[in-house]
Amino acid sequence: MKRLFEGFQPQNYKLELNPDTDTMKISGTVTISGQKVGRPSQRLTLHQHGLKVTEATITRHDKKLTQTKAVTRISHHKSFDEVRLHTEDQLFPGQYSITLHFEGKIQDSMHGIYASTYEFEGKKSKIVSTQFESHHAREAFPCVDEPEAKATFDLTLVSPEGETAISNMPHKSQSDANGKRTTVFETTPKMSTYLLAFIYGDLHCKEAKTTGGVDVRVWATKAQKPETLDFALDVAKRGIEFFDEYYGVPYPLAKCDHVAIPDFSSGAMENWGLITYRERCLLVDPATTSQSGREIVATVVLHELSHQWFGNLVTMRWWDDLWLNESFANVMEYVATNALFPEWEIWNTFITTEGLGALRRDAIAGVQAVKTEVRHPDEISTLFDPSIVYAKGGRLLNMLMNYVGQDDFRKGLKTYFTKHKYKNTQGKDLWAAISEASGKDVAAFMDPWLTRSGYPVVEVKQEGKDLCLHQHHFLMDTQKADPERIWPVPLLSDSADVPALLQEKKLETTLSSTDFVRINQGAIGHYIVRYANEAHASSIAKLVSDQKLGIADRLMLLSDSASLGQAGVQSFAESLKLLEHYSKESSDPVWDIMAMIIGIARRFVDVEPKLEAPIKALIRDLIEEQYQRLGWDELAGENSQDTKLRATIIALGVYSEHKEILDRALTLFETYKQDQQSIHSELRGIVFTAAVRHNKSDAFAYLLDLDGQTNNVDLKQDIMGALTAVRDAGHITTLLARLKDSDQVRQQDVDHWLVYLLRSRYGRDQAWDWLRDNWGWIEETFGSDKSYDYFPRYAASAFSTQKLLDEYKAFFEPMKDQPALTRNIVMGIEELENRVAWLERDLAPVAKYFKTSL
Ligand code: BES
Ligand code: ZN
Repeated sequence: MKRLFEGFQPQNYKLELNPDTDTMKISGTVTISGQKVGRPSQRLTLHQHGLKVTEATITRHDKKLTQTKAVTRISHHKSFDEVRLHTEDQLFPGQYSITLHFEGKIQDSMHGIYASTYEFEGKKSKIVSTQFESHHAREAFPCVDEPEAKATFDLTLVSPEGETAISNMPHKSQSDANGKRTTVFETTPKMSTYLLAFIYGDLHCKEAKTTGGVDVRVWATKAQKPETLDFALDVAKRGIEFFDEYYGVPYPLAKCDHVAIPDFSSGAMENWGLITYRERCLLVDPATTSQSGREIVATVVLHELSHQWFGNLVTMRWWDDLWLNESFANVMEYVATNALFPEWEIWNTFITTEGLGALRRDAIAGVQAVKTEVRHPDEISTLFDPSIVYAKGGRLLNMLMNYVGQDDFRKGLKTYFTKHKYKNTQGKDLWAAISEASGKDVAAFMDPWLTRSGYPVVEVKQEGKDLCLHQHHFLMDTQKADPERIWPVPLLSDSADVPALLQEKKLETTLSSTDFVRINQGAIGHYIVRYANEAHASSIAKLVSDQKLGIADRLMLLSDSASLGQAGVQSFAESLKLLEHYSKESSDPVWDIMAMIIGIARRFVDVEPKLEAPIKALIRDLIEEQYQRLGWDELAGENSQDTKLRATIIALGVYSEHKEILDRALTLFETYKQDQQSIHSELRGIVFTAAVRHNKSDAFAYLLDLDGQTNNVDLKQDIMGALTAVRDAGHITTLLARLKDSDQVRQQDVDHWLVYLLRSRYGRDQAWDWLRDNWGWIEETFGSDKSYDYFPRYAASAFSTQKLLDEYKAFFEPMKDQPALTRNIVMGIEELENRVAWLERDLAPVAKYFKTSL
């Protein structure tokens, strides 16, 4: 892709913006000082999208004279997102300043400069905020909208008098006149356009100061109670203190604001000094937020804080190195959360959510590598694949941390920040710093993992003392695997006779004992393992029942077995047999995987309803022991894992119609209507779902009404989960009809409501019809949003039958040439083909396992 930075390199923007919510128009002026480079030409090009530049002047600043160059024509180029200023004179390389007057729009969608509406005490209000990543700054002002074009910014913002106005930097001055408030902000450090931000609205906050003297504030609209800001404030303050120390480079700005925005496309955005969030990712209500909710808030805040260094202070040169931002922030979420909340044992969650998400997605043919080329601007948003650039990238960096050791890793980071601060980098700059610190060739270890998609299955064949290790590229469709592709695999074995790295396709060695070896201990390596010898596999399964394996190893064994099953290397019935070894299991993260196996088994119900009863019976057996241990009420002094496990057990109990659990859930729903504190926050959603599914009195109507009444984000989340579980077709129609009405369902939540309905057996067909019938509206509303490519992705995740595969293909294949959708459509079809083939292949052995005749 052509870069404007190769023609003009901005140094400073003097920007004045006046976004007016009465007219929904923006008027602005910008003076950009910078260097023209390259060949002399008669034009100067900047990015813009949807702007109208009404007036432009170009001034040349020579050593001796300052000279104005007449602009003869201003042309806007929609397909290139550009505005070109044409001059009669040749513009020679050198120092220039360009002043532009322009007009733009406050957007209806959730990027550029946009407005969110909310209701509080019967009054509707607006809050105006920005979302510029990845390439939406050009919707707010003409600029060189590329990460490499770092400059300083002097922002002046005009907003309504009486409202709070915030930007990246502290106020320099503020004055009120004629109902308008003009705020001048301090000059920013050198930074990329996508990190600029501002907000105005009627907000309230809580504040604190870090030991290093940074002012920290957490903000929300007044529709959110003040106490919902406390938890994030504590994390935000301690987070900066942690990173100051961990990175060895202090947070460079005087303040850091965190703001919850009612309409927000992604989870959060790391704008330098002004981090913005979806409300659910920042607010914790002590009365209603569950443990899992708190964990989300802490990890999101720490993710965005880590970007203040990795991403903001040092930035990737171009989007193909996006992983430098996101993979890094992903792993640092866990490093920092573990430091702040060691009692949560959050590294297990790293494996169960990020790790397994990555392993599943990365086994589908057509998946991108962590480091991926960008050919078209619409492709940028598709790079942010949560399973790859976040989860897999984070996992690879964790693997590297383990390979070089924590101390050298941190030493390398410190060098990297010191050397590259306020500049841009590529992956090799980071490798150079860590190589220098560790003395290891980091590029040789990491590049194959970053630039090749997929991962290996390592086959372990041990006969007595003879050991043979063999790696193959692993894909759900084994036919499509690349026979040549190999990786430097860290073996992480329990035997000193096994080398640290498997660098070749096949390795044969002799052990000093006949004890069976294990590899990938701690599930740190991004690969799966197959113990080929039956006796070997059962000896390891026995370690599970004897409770002699660690948590990560227990859960990985089960997960690997499911992957091998779905790829046809073995039957999925093997995974169900393996599950029997977990009957005494009491660890929450392991139960997450057990629940996942059950979820996979439930796919068979879509093709053979007869299997529903035996699957439910299996679940009831499996949960009984933990249900007896945990019951319904929090035990004195119980740890957070048990709190979460109780929810998993009770949810499985409700699904499997465990009589006592289901009855209790339905009774609790009635109690809730009288006393809203009567259900533990971790269980509230499950109780709601049970009541709706089992058509308890007027549960559907009651919750639908409650959704309209409340601004509480936890309640709204639980209500969505419950309502979308409804069985009644008329009710499903009601829910679908709300999706296009932003007074009832916020734009930010539409994809969630839809995917929940698609994943429900009862909602699926209607939701699928709705998606196809309303595609025009989806495209118009979300076409340029980060979430656009989730639609084909979510649909593929929900389907299991040949009929739906055919319909999916018929509908989405014609859209394959939209760059924003290509990858997810190709992979969606692939995923469905794999699943349909697998269900057909394994139906007989699974039915046999359940003693069900077909
Ligand atoms: N930089 C991203 C958000 C983003 C990405 C905005 C692409 C627009 C385009 C931010 O740091 C992020 O990664 N947010 C995550 C939440 C995170 C904690 C996983 C998100 O929004 O999903
Ligand atoms: Zn991020």
